[in-house]
Amino acid sequence: MKESALTKVPRADAPPPYEVQAFGTLTDVPIALAEAARREGVDNLNQLLADTITLRDLYRKHHWQASGPTFYMLHLLFDKHYREQDELVDAVAERVMQLGGVSVAMGADVAEMTLVPSPPKGRERTAEQLARLLFAHEVILEEARAMARYAERDGDVGTADLIVSKIIRTNETQVWFVAEHRTAAPAEVE
Ligand SMILES: [Fe+2]
Repeated sequence: MKESALTKVPRADAPPPYEVQAFGTLTDVPIALAEAARREGVDNLNQLLADTITLRDLYRKHHWQASGPTFYMLHLLFDKHYREQDELVDAVAERVMQLGGVSVAMGADVAEMTLVPSPPKGRERTAEQLARLLFAHEVILEEARAMARYAERDGDVGTADLIVSKIIRTNETQVWFVAEHRTAAPAEVE
């Protein structure tokens, strides 16, 4: 491996970890919701969070790496969707905290948890970028629908509402805009 100039610079030791709450644990919050319901909500929302962070970053990657005749349009569209997904990330992460959990946050931890397949480091063609985004949206929509049903069943209507009114509606709208950019197959002529 090539030696980096940075490795030669002396630096202070990184601060030692001092956690006030470990990841995966639950604190007691007085919101009239059973601990089991909050625990399931936190676990599900952290999965949704890891996948939403991944989709958000996928939009950023494709915003930078767009190409071809639709470059300008997709460059702008991917940026808009990136910002909308970033709002979802914040809403889901804060819901995890409201339920007494600890939200997943850093890239390495997200990469371990996400169900969205990792893209190559390199630049892809537009068709593959669109297909990759649509696949990620469908992963999220599939889990979000199931999670909303579980939250509703457990009486956690706040979480169910967040998932339906923000996650599902935003993702469905974004799928519409992305899917319309796919090149239509030529119609069959007799
Ligand atoms: Fe930009």
